[in-house]
Amino acid sequence: MKFVFVLVIALLVYVTGTACYNYKEVLEMSTLFYEAQRSGKLPADQRVKWRGDSALNDKGANGEDLTGGYYDAGDFVKFGFQMSFTVTVLAWGLLEHKAGYTAAGAVDDTLKAIKWGTDYFLKAHVSDNVFYAQAGSGWIDHQTWGRPEDMTEARPTYQINATHPGSDLAAETAAALTASYLLFKDVNSTYADILLTHAKQLYDFAWNYRGKYTDAFDDVRCCYNSSGYEDELIWGAAWLYRATNDSKYLSYAEEVYPTIQYYIGFNWDQKIGGADVLLAKLTGDSKYLTKTKNYCDNMLANQQRTPKGLIFITQWGSLMTTAYLMEICLEAAALGANAEQYRAEAKKQIDYMLGSTGFSYVVGYGDKYPLHVHHKAASCPDPPATCDWTQFSSTAPNPHVIKGALVGGPGANDDYEDVRSNYVVNEVDTVYNAGFQGVLATLIELGYSD
Ligand SMILES: *[C@@H]1O[C@H](CO)[C@@H](O)[C@H](O)[C@H]1NC(C)=O
Ligand SMILES: *[C@@H]1O[C@H](CO)[C@@H](O)[C@H](O)[C@H]1NC(C)=O
Ligand SMILES: *[C@@H]1O[C@H](CO)[C@@H](O)[C@H](O)[C@H]1NC(C)=O
Ligand SMILES: *[C@@H]1O[C@H](CO)[C@@H](O)[C@H](O)[C@H]1NC(C)=O
Repeated sequence: MKFVFVLVIALLVYVTGTACYNYKEVLEMSTLFYEAQRSGKLPADQRVKWRGDSALNDKGANGEDLTGGYYDAGDFVKFGFQMSFTVTVLAWGLLEHKAGYTAAGAVDDTLKAIKWGTDYFLKAHVSDNVFYAQAGSGWIDHQTWGRPEDMTEARPTYQINATHPGSDLAAETAAALTASYLLFKDVNSTYADILLTHAKQLYDFAWNYRGKYTDAFDDVRCCYNSSGYEDELIWGAAWLYRATNDSKYLSYAEEVYPTIQYYIGFNWDQKIGGADVLLAKLTGDSKYLTKTKNYCDNMLANQQRTPKGLIFITQWGSLMTTAYLMEICLEAAALGANAEQYRAEAKKQIDYMLGSTGFSYVVGYGDKYPLHVHHKAASCPDPPATCDWTQFSSTAPNPHVIKGALVGGPGANDDYEDVRSNYVVNEVDTVYNAGFQGVLATLIELGYSD
C-alpha cells in the first residue's frame, strides 16, 4: 500500500514536472532575511544572532538621530527609495493576503519587518518638507568589505527639501506609511495615526515641490536613479485615497495619470503597474483593470522565457522582476482578470525560483541553494576573525546562511553562477523579497501550499 502511494506521488511529480514546495516555510523564512538587513540597535527578540548593532552614529545635518532602517542589499547603504518601496510592497501583501500570512504563521514577523522601516521613516522625516533620503554613501561603502558592526567608514546623510525636492521619494514614502497605517490601525491606533499624519505631510511635500530625488543630490546616482516622479504621485495618492476616502487624492491621481507615457510594469522605479490594480480595486473603473490585463496577457504570451520556463525580463534581478510582474497579475486575477491562467503561471514562476530546475534560488531552502551570496555581513566569519577583501575573494561558502533571501537569479539561458563577486546574479536585496513575499502569500491563500 505504502509502495503504491510512493509510486503514485513519483508519477505525479514526473507527469506534472513539479514537486511541491512549502510556500509557507519560505514566506516565514523571508522575514528572517529582513532581520539580517537591520541597521541600528537590534532588539532583544532579534532571531538572526550573527548580526549585531551597527551604524549607531547615523545622523542628519543637525544631529538628528537616523539610526535604524535597513541596509539595502549586500552593502551598508540605507537607500530611502528602495526602503520605502520595500515597505509599501510588504504592507500591500499583508493587507490583501492576511489569510495567506496567517496560514504561514508570518503575520507578526512581517509586521515587525514593516515597523522596522516605518520607525526609521518617522525619524528621517524631520520637518514637513525635509526628509532624509539616504544614510551612507554608495561610493564610499563600495570601497570596503567587512562587517557592518565594525564599520569605520564615513556615513554622510542626504536629504530632500524644498529647494532640492524628490517627489518620487516623498510620495513613495507616503505610500509606505499609508499602507502601513492600514495594517497598524487594528494593532495600535496611536502609532497608526502618527504614520498617517506623516504620510499626508510627505505627500503634500511631494505634490507642492516637484522634482526627481536623483536630481537633488549626487550620491544616489551610483545606484538608483529614478526615471520620473509622476508614477509615485499617482501611487501615493491612490494609497491615501484608500486610507482616507478623501476625493482630493483621487483627483490628484487622475490629474497626473494622463501624463504617464510609458508602461513598463511594476518595480522599484515604476509604480504605475501597482497603481493600476489599486485604482481598479478602489474605483471599479474598468480602464485600470483592462490596462493591467492587457499588460499581463502580453507579458505571458510574448515575453522572452528561458529554456526552463522563467519569464525573463531583466538580467539584473531577473527573479524579482518576474515576481513583481506576477504580483500585479495576481492582484488583477483577484479582481476577475484571467484568474486561472495568471495563478497557474505565478505558481510555475515561483516553483522555478524554489527548485523546479533542480536548484533553489532562496538561500537556506531546499537541498541546493546559493552558498556564496554577495553579502558583506554573511561572508564574514564571527569576530574576532578579521573580515576584508580576502573573504570577498574566497571560494569558501559564506560562514553565515542568510536564510530566506532570494538572489538576483539566472540569465536568459538559465545560466547562473554561485560566485560571490557576481552581484548581478548573486546579490540579495530587500526589494527582491518584498514582491516575492506577496506572491507567496497569495498562492498560500489560494491553497497552493500544503
Ligand atoms: C537641501 O538639500 C540639498 C540636497 O541634499 C542640500 O545640499 C542642502 O544643503 C539642503 N538645504 C538645507 C537648507 O539644508
Ligand atoms: C502604541 O504606539 C505608541 C506610539 O508609537 C507607543 O507609544 C505605544 O507604546 C504603543 N502601544 C503599545 C501597546 O505597543
Ligand atoms: C544615473 O544618472 C547619471 C546621470 O544623471 C549617470 O551618470 C549614472 O550612470 C546613472 N546611474 C545609473 C546607476 O544608472
Ligand atoms: C470609505 O468608504 C467605504 C465605502 O463607502 C467605507 O467602507 C469605508 O469605511 C470608508 N473608509 C473611511 C476611512 O472612511
